[in-house]
Amino acid sequence: MTIDDKCAVSRRSLLLAGAGVTLTTSLLRLPVRAAPSPAAHITAKPARVSLAGSGHPATDVWTYNDTVPGTVVRLRQGEPARLTVDNQLDQDTTVHWHGVRLPNAMDGVPGLTQPPIKPGASFVYEFTPPDAGTFWYHPHANSLEQLGRGLAGAVIVEEHEPIAVDRDVLWFLSDWRLTSDARIAAGFGNGMEAAMSGRIGNTVTLNGSVSDEEPVKAGERIRLRLVNGALARIMALRFEGHRPVVVAIDGQPCDPHEPIDGRLLLGPAMRIDVILDMQGEPGRRYRVVDDFYDEQTYWLTQLAYDEQPPVRAHPLDASLRLPGNPLPAPDLAHAERHELALQGGMMSGGGMGMMGGMMGMRRGAPWAINGMSMTGDGDAHMKPALTFQRGRSVVATLRNETAFWHPMHLHGHSFQILTRNGAPVPHRQWGDTVLVSPRETVEVAFVADNPGNWMLHCHVMDHQMAGLMTVLRVA
Ligand code: C2O
Ligand code: CU
Ligand code: CU
Repeated sequence: MTIDDKCAVSRRSLLLAGAGVTLTTSLLRLPVRAAPSPAAHITAKPARVSLAGSGHPATDVWTYNDTVPGTVVRLRQGEPARLTVDNQLDQDTTVHWHGVRLPNAMDGVPGLTQPPIKPGASFVYEFTPPDAGTFWYHPHANSLEQLGRGLAGAVIVEEHEPIAVDRDVLWFLSDWRLTSDARIAAGFGNGMEAAMSGRIGNTVTLNGSVSDEEPVKAGERIRLRLVNGALARIMALRFEGHRPVVVAIDGQPCDPHEPIDGRLLLGPAMRIDVILDMQGEPGRRYRVVDDFYDEQTYWLTQLAYDEQPPVRAHPLDASLRLPGNPLPAPDLAHAERHELALQGGMMSGGGMGMMGGMMGMRRGAPWAINGMSMTGDGDAHMKPALTFQRGRSVVATLRNETAFWHPMHLHGHSFQILTRNGAPVPHRQWGDTVLVSPRETVEVAFVADNPGNWMLHCHVMDHQMAGLMTVLRVA
């Protein structure tokens, strides 16, 4: 099986390419103002779904409510939610509500914030989301395999006053490593991959299946919520013939702006909300291309315009600015400052066993933060690397000493991204996951206002499991 693909712009299913099958999926349509589901039941269980499309065998996956991605959890900002999770897997699980600022006991880290949910048991998650935006949920137990077999879904927290769009659309993107008969390939936790870029797959799905086209109408304005739910694949999306405007990153509104070179960079676990004015020609198709990896450019889907004349002559001139979330502003003048060095990994060009070279790493763990490796998914014995008094402003400098990319994620808080390699980051960008490039230094700031033990880890799942994780405590 090869995961390399040398075609300039190939199909996204690298293995299944050439089968000559037309693969389609329908848009997951979200009404602009839907009834929220403050109480919901989510069952984690095995199922069989068609990932690769008709003409290919179905794939055995692990699901939330029988589908991949799982049921969209729609909540309303500031209103209490109650979510019951039933575990019908044959192993322990938990659910982590990624990016939602919630009480520590609801954070879903086994051993650290709750006991794991045993097979046959259930757990009730109750919290009130303070922020509107695009979030997601996934297990935090045996994370690499459970996420890799399909356990993930979107959480959409609705604004009280949404911005004016014709349609609110979700593209939940997942990356699978499939064999030629469309099974999920074995080999989770391969040590070599864990020390390099992680388990990157060969098939990218959009809302759970390989997509040939997504129907659009000329002239309409779409709010597109992009979620990168991959284990390890970084994506850089370009919309041919279109100019997406970024309005939120990781659920948090930013100054509306066009991304550099029109490329939307999405590390694993990141979300970007864009506004797309459909200014293409009726009847035409425009590719959405992911060109993050030099030699593995592929197209994710095509925007397929129907034949109808534009629904309006000129783009709407309504504001693109989302209402703000109640994020506490860090006091930079009085902030505590800490450095977190990301260390390890197979050196590019180095031989076997050539790790970043540091002392004190847990035996066999290829990654570390400040020389310490926490591995797996979390346990009660994890000693916090840093403890903050509640309400302190914190500036954390993430210094990537490695030759790899790391989407670094903090639980329980959102942070402002201040600088990259010393240069200020424009457009007031906040996030819960920041993609740090090789050798890059990124400064983030937040108010440590949420008491508890919070994970900070790389969201390339193999990296997290293999040491690129720590715990921060808010007293
Ligand atoms: Cu998406 Cu520790 O989480
Ligand atoms: Cu998280
Ligand atoms: Cu990493």
